[in-house]
Amino acid sequence: ALPIILDCDPGHDDAIALVLALASPELELKAVTSSAGNQTPDKTLRNVLRMLTLLKRSDIPVAGGATKPLMRDLIIADNVHGESGLDGPALPEPDFAPQDCTAVELMAKVLRESPEPVTLVATGPQTNVALLLNAHPELHTKIARIVIMGGAMGLGNWTPAAEFNIYVDPEAAEIVFQSGIPVVMAGLDVTHKAQIMAEDIERFRRIGNPVATTVAELLDFFMAYHKAEKWGFHGAPLHDPCTIAWLLKPDMFTAIERWVGVETQGKYTQGMTVVDYYFLTGNSPNATVLTDINRAAFVDLLAQRLAFYN
Ligand code: BDR
Ligand code: CA
Repeated sequence: ALPIILDCDPGHDDAIALVLALASPELELKAVTSSAGNQTPDKTLRNVLRMLTLLKRSDIPVAGGATKPLMRDLIIADNVHGESGLDGPALPEPDFAPQDCTAVELMAKVLRESPEPVTLVATGPQTNVALLLNAHPELHTKIARIVIMGGAMGLGNWTPAAEFNIYVDPEAAEIVFQSGIPVVMAGLDVTHKAQIMAEDIERFRRIGNPVATTVAELLDFFMAYHKAEKWGFHGAPLHDPCTIAWLLKPDMFTAIERWVGVETQGKYTQGMTVVDYYFLTGNSPNATVLTDINRAAFVDLLAQRLAFYN
């Protein structure tokens, strides 16, 4: 199985990415680290522990990450994810504790001990990943690739130009993109096409196990936000699970290889991912930019993997 580390800020869609990863025998989840983003760092860490408790996977090492972005104050998305960060379902209290180390220390330990390179998946702001890359240049060769949810080609969901995860910590994202390690970018171009519709939620609910029911309840809450805001969507864009789905079924996606840089200074464009679509810079591509997804196959994959918890 492909070894991965998930760095996340649950977050409804982060939680579903975790559910998908742990239902997939193709992947071996070596550790989960929490980033500050959708909610404050204490809450996102607690949400990781609550989700792993629900999934009966307290064997997976967990560590809490940086409490704020590299150079900026933390911005949270409580308008999207609620007071707890995972509002909606009744989740269990954590039945285990995080490791007595930082996210960077846990990631470094996993990389050091792994005989083969490990894939990093980051579904929140990239603060922890950037800190890891800066602190441990000797471990870069142990990272197979970095698969992120973040950015977009010319779209924004937090500002007109910026997607939330990149906007929260653009300096961290720039470190990740320019690291020389292959990056896979699941940005809004693809995640806005990975919409879950009301009938899909009912399909998940009918699967009937406690995990599928929780996922349906998470999606009920997430759907209400996306309907309330005037996005013009028919469903809820399931951003973060696109990262795991790409690892499982890359053929489900359309992708292009391009150079991507992150704007950290712009007057209107802070946190924008600048994608060199027409190869104007002469820079070699540093990212696989996902542009489209087979939505029906994505929903089928989720339904199939939720049945794993029967
Ligand atoms: C991203 O921001 C968060 O609200 C979601 O969890 C996702 O990672 C979408 O812009
Ligand atoms: Ca997230």
